[in-house]
Amino acid sequence: MAKNQVAAAHKIAVLSGDGIGPEITDACLKVLTAAARAEGEELVYTEALIGGAAIDATGDPYPAETEQICKSSDAVLLACIGGYKWDSLPNAQRPEKGLLRLRSSLNAFANLRPAVVLPQLADASTLKREVVEGVDIMIVRELVGGIYFGEPRGFEERNGERVGFNTDVYSESEVERISRVAFEAAMKRGKRLCSVEKSNVLEVSQLWKEVVTRVAEDYPEVELSHMYIDNAAMQLIRNPKYFDTIVTGNIFGDILSDEASMLTGSLGMLPSASISEPGKPGIYEPVHGSAPDIAGEDKANPLAMVLSAAMMCRYGLGLPRVAQRLEAAVTAALDAGYRTGDIMQPGCSQVGCRQMGEVVLQQLEKAFAKADPLEAARLEYCETVDPSAKECKVFDE
Ligand code: IPM
Ligand code: MG
Repeated sequence: MAKNQVAAAHKIAVLSGDGIGPEITDACLKVLTAAARAEGEELVYTEALIGGAAIDATGDPYPAETEQICKSSDAVLLACIGGYKWDSLPNAQRPEKGLLRLRSSLNAFANLRPAVVLPQLADASTLKREVVEGVDIMIVRELVGGIYFGEPRGFEERNGERVGFNTDVYSESEVERISRVAFEAAMKRGKRLCSVEKSNVLEVSQLWKEVVTRVAEDYPEVELSHMYIDNAAMQLIRNPKYFDTIVTGNIFGDILSDEASMLTGSLGMLPSASISEPGKPGIYEPVHGSAPDIAGEDKANPLAMVLSAAMMCRYGLGLPRVAQRLEAAVTAALDAGYRTGDIMQPGCSQVGCRQMGEVVLQQLEKAFAKADPLEAARLEYCETVDPSAKECKVFDE
């Protein structure tokens, strides 16, 4: 952007949620703000309640005020929701319901979950290094349909006993729009798309397969394959490098994305983007949950949220350079040997959530300084002459 042009501020709804949410949000926002400033971009954050925190404050896991804030933002940055405290509440009042209503109200139908094995972390996986090294998979999960939202659903009495039931349903248009997102993603990647379903048993999957096959005609460059969910779950562990881009429905995507996360060694590293129609705000959130067992102990890994913020910049705000800065700073922090407990390896330095945030911030500032010789000189002076001097901070608070 030209120097004399003033960029419009990007409006971001920040939902820090429950458990480790507030800690990772804190670390993430510091890094995100610095990366944006380095590119001359202004981000305006509006915090809102969701999940257990919202239940405690208002009785509702997705209050109307939160919905209004999210809908009037350019993007929603979410940490995580849930905890033991709210586990026994009826379905409609559970934190998870807040998340599902958020996704549904923004029509965030395309959930992109990358599973990339970083070379620095290849040994953190429970699988052998040679199996996971180089894995780079994008799971495109349908997020606002299927069995999660299908009607009828509920409990009733049949033959003198209670039954619980749900409906797995997809319309042609729902399958078509998620397929298009997946083919577009595949085009930007390895041009191989695997559609995962259970068409040997389920009608909903037979329709799914038909529609995906039809959409494939518009993408002759993409090699399309089909796989049953049980086989896909097996192949993902047996030979994960087979996969490039995967497209699947809501519940299969839920399961496969957790499985894929374990290829990478840590759920604490995986970001996600949930995209709506063009021009509408998407939701950017780490794949991991709220880890109530370590909440408030400064042990959480903030990197998945930082990488989710990078996805937000790239897909939601049109700020690819800010995204690159964030991703490069995360890589540099790992290269420098810093690890949170969940990805700790021998010979590395174990740090807490706050310190990991600071390390990423330092790496960001270093990279920024490299691009600007004056800043570089200032940073070098500060590091060598007086590391504690306040003015040495490259960015003002
Ligand atoms: C996820 C989670 C959610 C889901 C839960 C918390 C409702 O597991 O984002 O994968 O099932 O979609
Ligand atoms: Mg899940």
